[in-house]
Amino acid sequence: MKKLEQLYEGKAKKVYATDDPSLLIVSYKDDATAFNGLKKGTIAGKGVINNRMSNLLMQRLEASGIPTHFVKELNDRETLVKRVSIVPLEVIVRNIAAGSFSKRYGVEEGMVFEFPTIEFSYKNDALGDPLLNEYHARALRLATADEIEAIKRYSFAVNEKLRAFWRECGVTLVDFKLEFGRLPDGSIVLADEISPDTCRLWDSKTGEKLDKDRFRRDLGGVEGAYAEVMQRLSAHI
Ligand code: TMP
Ligand code: ASP
Repeated sequence: MKKLEQLYEGKAKKVYATDDPSLLIVSYKDDATAFNGLKKGTIAGKGVINNRMSNLLMQRLEASGIPTHFVKELNDRETLVKRVSIVPLEVIVRNIAAGSFSKRYGVEEGMVFEFPTIEFSYKNDALGDPLLNEYHARALRLATADEIEAIKRYSFAVNEKLRAFWRECGVTLVDFKLEFGRLPDGSIVLADEISPDTCRLWDSKTGEKLDKDRFRRDLGGVEGAYAEVMQRLSAHI
């Protein structure tokens, strides 16, 4: 597999073409941003952890019947993935109130829901990723009704699998963000990443935050938290 030109640079990853038009290489950076890029920083070693963690979790999901873009881990920071056209929706599943949910609805962080919730944002940095519902997504032609159904089904299935897995690691899966892509045949697969950048992970016993909120909220111990969740996951995989 030959790595060709860089196609895209995002906030946390770079994407390269390969000599196979159906495959791309994703390269994970240590760069961290928050609040739509307003806050910028570096989390040393994050790229290596996110690459590894995302790949391990995607492989587990794939094994349980959820299709993903994952093909092969190439090295510490790089992974071969299927080329997809990204559905411009950020899909957020929540088990416990936190972050923007707590702020928007005026509820304390930590309120445990009776059942998981799902919400969508329009993936559009210029607009600040505004929240939207399924009707809006269809009106804007971001996804079809069938695609939205598949995305919801996969997202809740991902939640059940990941929640159970993280529980075994002594970690509570509070919420997370997923992105999906379309393969050339039109089918929907899980894409992007699953990492402490995109999940809220709390220590099950102490409630300590082991995710990017430590960076967003200047809590300190950011690198240590990423290393801790990675270590717990490795011990259970
Ligand atoms: P929120 O409470 O800020 O809406 O975040 C919900 C979850 O989504 C949380 O686990 C962090 C993740 N997330 C991202 O991965 N990217 C983003 O741009 C945002 C805003 C949240
Ligand atoms: N990565 C996102 C940004 O920079 C937000 C976040 O993860 O909080 O906007």
